[in-house]
Amino acid sequence: MTDHKRLNDWVEHVASLCEPESIHWCDGSTDEYDRMAQLLVDAGSFHKLDESKRPNSYLCWSDAADVARVEDRTYICSENEADAGPTNNWQAPAEMKQTLTGFFKGSMRGRTMYVIPFSMGPVGSPIAHIGVQCTDSPYVVVSMHIMTRVGKKVLEALGSDGDYVPCMHSIGYPLVDDDGNRRDDVPWPCNGENKYICHFTETREIWSYGSGYGGNALLGKKCLALRIASVMARDQGWMAEHMLILKITSPDGDARFIAAAFPSACGKTNLAMLNPTIPGWKVECVGDDIAWMKFGPDGRLYAINPEAGFFGVAPGTSDKTNPNAMASLTENSIFTNCALTDDGDVWWEEMTDDAPAHLKDWHGKDWTPASDKPAANPNARFTAPARQCPVMAPEWEDPAGVPIDAILFGGRRATTVPLVVEARDWRHGTFLGSVMGSEKTAAATGGLGQLRRDPMAMLPFCGYHMADYWQHWLNMGEKGGDKMPRVFCVNWFRKDDDGRWLWPGYGENSRVLKWVVERCQGKADATDSAIGNLPNDGAIDVSGLDIAGSDLETLLSVDAQAWKEEVSSIEEHYAKFGNQLPQGLKEELADLASRLG
Ligand code: OXD
Ligand code: MN
Repeated sequence: MTDHKRLNDWVEHVASLCEPESIHWCDGSTDEYDRMAQLLVDAGSFHKLDESKRPNSYLCWSDAADVARVEDRTYICSENEADAGPTNNWQAPAEMKQTLTGFFKGSMRGRTMYVIPFSMGPVGSPIAHIGVQCTDSPYVVVSMHIMTRVGKKVLEALGSDGDYVPCMHSIGYPLVDDDGNRRDDVPWPCNGENKYICHFTETREIWSYGSGYGGNALLGKKCLALRIASVMARDQGWMAEHMLILKITSPDGDARFIAAAFPSACGKTNLAMLNPTIPGWKVECVGDDIAWMKFGPDGRLYAINPEAGFFGVAPGTSDKTNPNAMASLTENSIFTNCALTDDGDVWWEEMTDDAPAHLKDWHGKDWTPASDKPAANPNARFTAPARQCPVMAPEWEDPAGVPIDAILFGGRRATTVPLVVEARDWRHGTFLGSVMGSEKTAAATGGLGQLRRDPMAMLPFCGYHMADYWQHWLNMGEKGGDKMPRVFCVNWFRKDDDGRWLWPGYGENSRVLKWVVERCQGKADATDSAIGNLPNDGAIDVSGLDIAGSDLETLLSVDAQAWKEEVSSIEEHYAKFGNQLPQGLKEELADLASRLG
C-alpha cells in the first residue's frame, strides 16, 4: 500500500478481477529476491546452480510453447485502427478489454499477486518513467529485480499523485477453478491456448495475458520502454528507441557517446561492450538494448538506458565473442532455457569450442554431442545485473543521461550496403533508418528476396503508425537543428559471391567506430557519393588487420546496379505506408534515385 490513491484503487481493481489468494507489495530488497527465488526452487521452477561455479544463480526451463516474444499475439489498441498503422496488429480498446476481462477474471486464483513498482531509468531522473506491474509470476518478480529498479524508492518518487504506467499481467494458469476445485501447479505455468500482449496507447496501459516469458511478461522492457514510450515520446517531444548506448574514448581522452539500432539477433550486446582491437581506444557500455533520449538544457539529445540489467540471448555468447557479457553473468544471474551441466552449471551452443560429453537439455532430457537438437533453446537467455559488467561506463546511471554524438543504424546485409556510410544530414539519416533491414540468409540465396525491412529496428516495437514515427524523427531534427547527432549506417555482414565474410566483425568493429568518432571530431574527411558520405581511401584504420585491399574496396564502394534494385525495393516498402509517408522521405528516395542516374 502507498498513499497514492489512484494506485491503490487500481491494485484493488486488478485484485477484484483476478481474485488472487493474497497480495504482496514488492520492496525490491535482497531478502525479497532470495525468498522469491527459494519459492521458485521449492516449486520446481528454479534449479539452483552450483554455488562455487555460479554463485547465487538459477536455471529454469520454460514450457516448450512459451519460449519467445509472440509478435502475432501483440496488439496496439488505439481508438482508431489507422493510428496503429500497417505494421501492427490492432483491435479496438473497448473490444479488447472486454475479451481480456473474460480471461483475467479469476486468473490468479490460488496464487499471490505481486505488485511491482518499477522505475525505467535511474529513480528520479528527468528522463525516467515509472510503471507498476501486477503479476502472479514470482519469476517475473525476480527478473524485474534485475532488469529494473524496483520497490520502496520508486513509490517514494511516485509520491501521492505521480504518473505511472499500469501493467496488468497474468500467466493465465489459476490453481482454483470456478467451482472451487484446486489443481497442482506446474514448473512453468502459462496459458496454452490464449496469449495476448496488449498496449492501450492513448490511456498508456499494458495488459498481458498467458505468457511468462521475456518481453511478453517483463513488461518494463519492450511493452513499456518501447511500445508505450514511443507514443509518450511522440506526444512529449522525445525519443524512445531500440538502441544500445556506448561510450568510446580516443587515445587523447576525448569521450563520445554513440547510440545504435540493430534488429534483434545482430549482435547488439556484443557491440555495446566490445573490446576494441585498436590500441589506445576504449569502449564502455551504457546500455545494450534501449535508449530514451530527451533534449538537455544545451539543446543536445541526452540518453539514458532505462534498464538495469541484460536480458541477452545466450547461444553464441562466449569468451571469444563477448568476454564482457560472460563476466557479467558469473553470479547473481538467472538462466532461462539453457542446458544444465553434470556439475551444476549452465551451457549453451558455442559457449565453448567443445560441448560437454553429457548435459540435461532445455527440456530436462539427457543430451550428448551426438544429439540432433541443440541443448539450449536458440532463444535461451541470461538475465544479469548491468552493474556486474566489467566495462560499464561510470555515467551509466547518471540521471542527466549522456549526450549523444552519433547514431548508427545497422542490419545484416550480405550485399549492397557498405561497411559504413554517413548520412548527409538528419533527414537523410532518418531515410537510412527507415529503410534498414536484415536478410534472413546469406548472399548465396540472392539477397533482396529474403530481406525484412525493420525501420530503426522498431518494426515489432513502434506503438503507432510507422510513417508518423518517421515524421516524429523529422520533427525532432527540425527542433534540434545542428545539435542533433550525426547519423551513420553500418553493415558488419557483407559477404562475397562465395559466401565468405568480407569483414571480421566483433572487436574489429572498433575501426569503424574510430572513423565515426573522427567524423564527429572533424578530423576525418569523407567523399560524397550517391548514397551518402563514404570514408576516404585509408580513412578506416586497418593497421594490424589482415584484410585484402580488394575486400576493403568492395566494403566501401557503391554498386550502382545493386542500389538501383535497392531503390525499387524501397519503393515497395514505402508503398505500404501510403499517403502518410512523410514528404521529406519521398524527397530523399527521389534524390537517391536521381544521384544513381
Ligand atoms: C530483444 C529483442 O530481446 O530485440 O532484445 O528481441
Ligand atoms: Mn532488443
